[in-house]
Amino acid sequence: MQFDKIHNRIGTNSDKWDSLKSLYGLSPDEAIPMWVADMDFQAPEAVTSAMREMVERGIYGYACEDDNYRSAICGWMERRHKWKVQPASLFSVHGIVNAIALAIQAYTAPKDGIIIFSPVYHAFARVIKASGRRLIESPLVKGTSGKYKMDLKALSNNLNGNVRMVILCSPHNPGGRVWSADELEELAEFAERHKLIIVSDEIHHDLVYAGFSHIPFEKAVPSAQSYLITLTSTTKTFNIAGMHTGNVIISDEKLRMQFKKVLLELAISPSSFGVAMTTAAYNGGEDWLDRLLSYLSGNKDLFDSRINEIRGLVSMPLEATYLCWVDYRALNMSLTEYKNKIEAETKVAASYGETFGNGGQGHLRFNIAMPKKVLDSALDRLQNAFTKI
Ligand SMILES: Cc1ncc(COP(=O)(O)O)c(C=O)c1O
Repeated sequence: MQFDKIHNRIGTNSDKWDSLKSLYGLSPDEAIPMWVADMDFQAPEAVTSAMREMVERGIYGYACEDDNYRSAICGWMERRHKWKVQPASLFSVHGIVNAIALAIQAYTAPKDGIIIFSPVYHAFARVIKASGRRLIESPLVKGTSGKYKMDLKALSNNLNGNVRMVILCSPHNPGGRVWSADELEELAEFAERHKLIIVSDEIHHDLVYAGFSHIPFEKAVPSAQSYLITLTSTTKTFNIAGMHTGNVIISDEKLRMQFKKVLLELAISPSSFGVAMTTAAYNGGEDWLDRLLSYLSGNKDLFDSRINEIRGLVSMPLEATYLCWVDYRALNMSLTEYKNKIEAETKVAASYGETFGNGGQGHLRFNIAMPKKVLDSALDRLQNAFTKI
C-alpha cells in the first residue's frame, strides 16, 4: 500500500519536520511531527508526472489561467461536489490565506469587524489583525454529540459597531465538522440580515469521511451569491500545499469586479507550477484520492479508539479533515505541564489548542496523515506518557 511507505523528509526544507527543533526544541530524528497540515505521503503520480514533463522541458515561463485549468476545476466541482461553477467566476491566487487577505482588502475597510467561529484555523485571526480589522470571535459550542455547532443567537446578541464580513471554515478545522444545509442556510440568513460578506473557506472539502457529504455554500444557498465568495484548492486534497495556489470562486459580477480590482492593485497573477499541478491533480488524481480517504479513515478510527482509551482525553468525532481534535481539560493540566510532562517525553509535536483562538484552550490538534506504523508509534508514546500521570 503506497500510503504505508515511510518517507524521510528531514533536511528537505519541510516546515513540518525541519522546524521541529526551533519551534518545539525536538530533534527531528526522534520526534513525530503531528502539527502542520500536510501529509507524509507522496502526491498522486498524475501531479508528479506533470512536474516531470515541465522539468524535462526545462522552461519555467509565465502561465495563464487557460481553458484546461478552468475546465479541470469546473469538472471537479461538478463530479465531486455536484456544483456547477462558471469558468468566468474563477480566479487563481497564491493560496487560501492569500485569498482571505485579498477578500479583506476588497470588501472591508480598516477597523471593520470580521467574524470567525473559534476555535478555527489560526491564520484567519492573524490576517484579520494584520490588516487592521477588528477580530470578532464567535465561540463554537459542543453539542450533545460532542461536535461543534455555531451559536448565531449569542453572536447576534453580542454584535456591535461596523461588521462587514464572516469567514466560515467549511468543513471546519479543527474539529472536522461538515456543516449541514440547514446550518449553512441559517448562516446565510444571519449574514443577509447583518449585511455581511461570507467568505467560505472550503479547502478541506474533499477530505470528508463516509456518511458525510460536503455541501458547497453556494449550492446549499444559491440566493447567497450576491454576498458570497468561495475558496477552494487542490493543495490539501492532493498534498501539494507548497505550490501555494488556490481558486477563488465568485459568481456575482459586482463582487467579482471588486476582487479583480484588488488583484490588479496587488499585482497577483497565476503561478505556472500552481496551474500545472492543479490541472493535473483534478484530471488524474481521483482514484488516488479515493484510496487516500479509505487510508485516512483507518487512521482516524485507530487514533480515536486508542486516544479515547486514555482517561481524561476525548477525541472529537471527525466528519472531515485529517486533523484530530483532542480535549484534555478533564486532566486539569496546564499547557506548560503538558509540554513538560507529555511533549518532552513523547516527542510528539501536536498543535496547541490555544493557537486556534477562544475555546481552543485545553485541546490539542493531531495531524494523522502519516503511515499507520508511525501513527501507531505516536499512539504508543502518548498512551504511555498520559497513563503515567
Ligand atoms: C482552513 C484552512 N484554510 C487555509 C489553509 C492554508 O491554505 P494555503 O496554504 O493555501 O494558504 C489551511 C491550512 O491548514 C486551512 O486549514
